[in-house]
Amino acid sequence: SKKHQGNENTKNKQLNLFRVDDRGKKMTTNQSLKVSEDEFSLKAGERGPTLMEDFHFREKMTHFDHERIPERVVHARGFAAHGEFQVYESMRKYTKAKFLQDPTVKTPVFVRFSTVVGSRGSAETVRDVRGFATKFYTEEGNYDLVGNNIPVFFIQDAIKFPDLVHAIKPEPHNEIPQAASAHDTFWDFVANNQETAHMVMWLMSDRAIPRSFRMMEGFGVHTFRLVNEQGEAFFAKFHWKPKLGTHSLVWDEAQKIAGDDPDFHRRDLWENIEKGNYPEFELGVQIIREEDEFMFDFDILDATKIWPEEIVPVHLIGKMTLNRNVDNVFAETEQVAFHPGHVVPGIDFTNDPLLQGRLFSYTDTQLIRLGGPNFHEIPINRPVCPFHNNQRDGYHRQTINQGKVSYHRNSLAGNTPTPVPEEEGGFKHYQEKVEGRKIRSRSESFKDHFSQATLFWNSMTKPEKEHIIDAFSFELGMVKSESVRQQVVDMFAHVSLPLATTVAKNIGVRAPKGGGSHVTTSSPALSQEYTKKSAAT
Ligand code: HEM
Repeated sequence: SKKHQGNENTKNKQLNLFRVDDRGKKMTTNQSLKVSEDEFSLKAGERGPTLMEDFHFREKMTHFDHERIPERVVHARGFAAHGEFQVYESMRKYTKAKFLQDPTVKTPVFVRFSTVVGSRGSAETVRDVRGFATKFYTEEGNYDLVGNNIPVFFIQDAIKFPDLVHAIKPEPHNEIPQAASAHDTFWDFVANNQETAHMVMWLMSDRAIPRSFRMMEGFGVHTFRLVNEQGEAFFAKFHWKPKLGTHSLVWDEAQKIAGDDPDFHRRDLWENIEKGNYPEFELGVQIIREEDEFMFDFDILDATKIWPEEIVPVHLIGKMTLNRNVDNVFAETEQVAFHPGHVVPGIDFTNDPLLQGRLFSYTDTQLIRLGGPNFHEIPINRPVCPFHNNQRDGYHRQTINQGKVSYHRNSLAGNTPTPVPEEEGGFKHYQEKVEGRKIRSRSESFKDHFSQATLFWNSMTKPEKEHIIDAFSFELGMVKSESVRQQVVDMFAHVSLPLATTVAKNIGVRAPKGGGSHVTTSSPALSQEYTKKSAAT
């Protein structure tokens, strides 16, 4: 069709095998029996009961009865598009990932944007974090960069994620409210888990009410690892920078649009792609050498901390263009399964305890959301290169694997899949040396919850600060528990006493007394030394 012309990338060609055009076709059952009547069920006489033998009625109704699958446990409300990614110049120095080598290669991508808290039908312009998940269909397998539009996270350790989500989702006794940040449990969680401070500052800022998916930044959040051909590793953070710039709504607009057009963001993305106004995002990386791991006043494994860009600059290394809308939202947008653990040779993990837990969670949830272990065979999830192993069976298996041997190391069949040495592209985990006692704590700087939250506040312009004060006052003002309101105001006095004092006044609680006496591990001397060193190399 016209829509797919000019998009003949490998993924699009593969999807063609599955596209079905039902228009003008004869109606059949799923067994391909031609159907003669689709409006009257089979009855015993004009006024009699419906007959059990009406297989057409039964099939049609049964299929309908099973149309829904569970929505995502978070990020349920999302919208996606296809596109392509091209690197500007070879990243060989840092990584051997094939899709980051050759500027002439276009890698197909699929990107799903989302809100986090609301259910599948919720309004899109609410105050919330936005998901920004990208699947690169590379020649070495699928690489997923499953990010958000805010560069830090609420918590530092995955074990708290269920608690966080229970606090931000609608309260269980009455399922109110859909929006994240205007209720008792959210703010109670914040006040009692103060590592949330930095992220909450972003959440109360204009970043949490983006103007358009086309005008949002994206962040991988965690520290990842790049590994080059020589086996050298580098710490890396990923960024997406929108070519249109980063823009937000103002709160009054966001609220009115939520009522007027709850589909505002998807409509904007869909219509612009249809018009040929293709959204573009540049991929940026921040890189820290392994030997510099401890040169910062924060732990680079702490997902509540950014790497300040003036200390570790962002290099723009490539561009992604979204140029095609989906054919079918359920088949593509809903069935896509992203996972931070989908990596390719040259990209690896770090011991960030939030990332480590995510590596478990995504497949686990998709096993139930997508009905068993074969969801990699769903068209949108298939790699564009072949995949072979000895995994077999399970619900909805599509492939017909040949032969009697489905186990590794055998003498009966010489032709079963065999592991591939690293030199020939086999993935080998980076051989980081690890040593330690089994403990549940982290480095001391993980306890510094306020230094970067303060940095964020201080970097805001006057109108941005006013918006943050308004947001705190509105959202926290909705909280019924006076104790929670007070706890939050007292907490944010550690970020800015004027901020907390103004909010306290606006929402009718006592002005915080202190502030500023929080744990700080800040040692700018360290970063200065790093800046000097990197300028010299
Ligand atoms: C979706 C878990 C942190 C970004 C999800 C889903 C789960 C999950 C279970 C639903 C997946 C599905 O049904 O397919 C977790 C856990 C986290 C965590 C356990 C922390 C321990 C994060 C962080 C980010 C993030 C830090 C951003 C860097 C996303 C995105 C989606 C998502 C973008 C939606 C993907 C899509 O569009 O299908 N997460 N998450 N999550 N998560 Fe996380």
